[in-house]
Order: sequence, then C-alpha cells, then structure tokens
Amino acid sequence: MQILNFCRLREGVKSCTVRPLACLFTSTCGMAKSKFEYVRNFEVEDTCLRNCYIVVRLDGRNFHRFAEQHKFAKPNDNRALGLMTRSARSVMEELEDIIIGYGQSDEFSFVFKRTSTWFKRRASKLMTLVASQFSSSYVFHWKDFFGDHPLLYPPGFDGRVVLYPSNRNLKDYLSWRQADCHINNLYNTVFWTLVQKGGLTTVQAEDRLKGTLAADKNEILFSEFDINYNKEPAVYRKGTTLIWEKHDQTVITEVMKDKIKEVHGTPRSKRSVQVYHSDIIGEDFWEQHSNIFEDDGC
Ligand code: GTP
Ligand code: MG
Repeated sequence: MQILNFCRLREGVKSCTVRPLACLFTSTCGMAKSKFEYVRNFEVEDTCLRNCYIVVRLDGRNFHRFAEQHKFAKPNDNRALGLMTRSARSVMEELEDIIIGYGQSDEFSFVFKRTSTWFKRRASKLMTLVASQFSSSYVFHWKDFFGDHPLLYPPGFDGRVVLYPSNRNLKDYLSWRQADCHINNLYNTVFWTLVQKGGLTTVQAEDRLKGTLAADKNEILFSEFDINYNKEPAVYRKGTTLIWEKHDQTVITEVMKDKIKEVHGTPRSKRSVQVYHSDIIGEDFWEQHSNIFEDDGC
C-alpha cells in the first residue's frame, strides 16, 4: 500500500513539470480533490467502545527532576498539590462529560461518562485535549501557587486511555489509584521523617525500611517521632477527588412596573466542581454521592 501510493506520488511529481497546478487535483463527480487526499486513509480508528467509562490518566513527565529543580517540599508540597488540583478543575470545567477526577502526586485521572459522545469518543482527541488543557492550566496558574518562585522550564504530562465497562470496575480502578497513594505516602512520610528528623542519610533510611510492613512504618512514626500517621493531612493520605455538585441558588432580578421597583427571586440550580480528600475505597463516599454513576447493577 505504502509503495503503491509512493509510486502514484512520484508519477504526479513527474507530470507536474508539464502542468504544475492542474496535476494536483483529480475530479470525481465534479468535486475537485487534491491528489494527496488518499493520505487520510492512513488514519486509524480509535473510537472508544460504547457503554464504557473512558478514563484518561495523566502523569507528570520526569517529575522527580521537576520537583528537585523547583525545590518542592518533601515528601509533599502543598503548592504543587494545589496547582495539580487547580489544573484538574480547569479540565473539568472546560471539557464536557467528565463526571469525576482523582489525583495524587504528579498524576490525575479523569472519567468521562459512559454515554459520552464527545468528539465521537475518539481516544486520541479526548486524551490530547485533557493533557493539553491540564498542561496549559498548570503553567497558567503557576504564579497563583508558587508566587515569585519561577517556573524554570515547561512541564509535560503523558496520557493514556483505559475503558471500564462496569461501575465495579471503575470503582476498583479508583481504589487502585488511592491504594497507590496510601502505599507511597506512608513510605515517603517515614522515609523523609527518618532523614529530616532522625538524621539518617537517604541510604540508611532506605535500609531501615527494607522489608517493613505498613504496621512497622506506623510504629516507627509513632514510637520514635510521636507522629500519628492517621492525623497527617487527608490530602496527602487520600489524594484529591473532584466531583460535580448542584447547589440551589436564588437569582434576584429587579423590574420597574408602573414606576415601582419589583424584586423577583427565581430559584436556579447551579453545578460546580467540589474538592474532597475522602476515602473512596469504602462504600460511604459513593453512598453519599450516589448520583455520580448510573446504576448498572454492578
Ligand atoms: P515518569 O512519570 O516516568 O516520567 O517519572 P517521574 O519522575 O515523574 O516519576 P513518577 O511519576 O513515578 O513519580 C512522581 C515523582 O514526582 C515522585 O517520585 C516525586 O519525586 C515527585 N513528586 C510528586 N509530588 C511531589 C511533592 O509534593 N514533593 C516532592 N518533593 N516531590 C514530588
Ligand atoms: Mg511522573
């Protein structure tokens, strides 16, 4: 196929020496088409399967280096976490059909509703729009979180698309990301406490934590540093969940009637993105926000 097309192109190029402009077009049913039109056929279908939730997960590229260069606090930098959440909010507000977002560290997942027909469910369109909106917001809002601390170079975020056919699968996906947040944050909290407060080198701290279980790590924090891990900020332990919530409002309008001002109040329902740092592995959160998913019996 490629060789055949190449030959056609070569022929076209040859005849151009005779009729330079006319040779660029072919005529089918009176519609002029460029002879290069065939290259469209190289595009592949990437429509997401119907009736599935579409998850786009972004991850900061080489954020280990980015965090070092921008002197992020260890293990958690509130400015960086705030900026991630701000950028995720912008994604939800600018792009249609996202029902929930979940983020931790340098990653954020966005879930499109299963019935979404946005951009004909084309994976590449959805993923690139999420990634570019998130990246541009990250740069746009940098100053709001880091003030005069300069952004030294443009950060990048990779993206992937995964489809989940049932509510159970989607909840398990989100649980997986929150479990990851918990495992990493517990490790990092003990590791940096051993270094920053315990005076260990990073190599010594790594050795100390080799083979330890969650209970051992909690015990080190509690008995040696008087830190109750469960009282660490929820944003570090649970990550950040963004959902849409409706609020009832009364819109006040003033009208003049027979030279008398009348004030009318009209009830309106407005939706806005709300931020939670809650447990999403258990059922409580989902029971309290039962409108996020459509019931599928799973
Ligand atoms: P790739 O994603 O493979 O490009 O590599 P990466 O360096 O981004 O690593 P990964 O995504 O696995 O992990 C994210 C990294 O970001 C962490 O290992 C930290 O080094 C860094 N990071 C994220 N959030 C914070 C933070 O709040 N404070 C600090 N100090 N570092 C952070
Ligand atoms: Mg990363």
